[in-house]
Amino acid sequence: MIGPAHHVGVAVRSLDAALADYRTLGFEAESVEDVPAQGVRVAFLGTGAVRIELLESLRPDGVIARFVDRSGEGLHHLAFAVQDIRAEMRRLREKGLKLVDAEPRPGARGRLVAFIHPRSAHGVLLELVQESAGSGIASTQQD
Ligand code: CO
Repeated sequence: MIGPAHHVGVAVRSLDAALADYRTLGFEAESVEDVPAQGVRVAFLGTGAVRIELLESLRPDGVIARFVDRSGEGLHHLAFAVQDIRAEMRRLREKGLKLVDAEPRPGARGRLVAFIHPRSAHGVLLELVQESAGSGIASTQQD
């Protein structure tokens, strides 16, 4: 089952510039981190139930760079928390929905994440987030 809203992903050209503007707006950065598995540098803002994730591409040909080139900066995805990401991915696949990821990927802050294709969500890119990678997965990140 898909749980409560977790964060809103915003694609930006420059994380430093975006962070400065979002600080002026009144948001505090909770963490800033490179996530090589996704080719992005991300900042999570706010401490409430729904955070804002600012994403800057680490590579000129990365998915976020291509998104910004095509559509400009702005809303990129909505993320929802799940307890068991593999079980949820299996359930969705069995229902015939299209997932971007075959397996969960490491996300920021030791999380596991996977994306559901916009074609299966009426034009919205959805992300599933399992808060802790759980046992059996080595974590190299300090929290
Ligand atoms: Co995200």
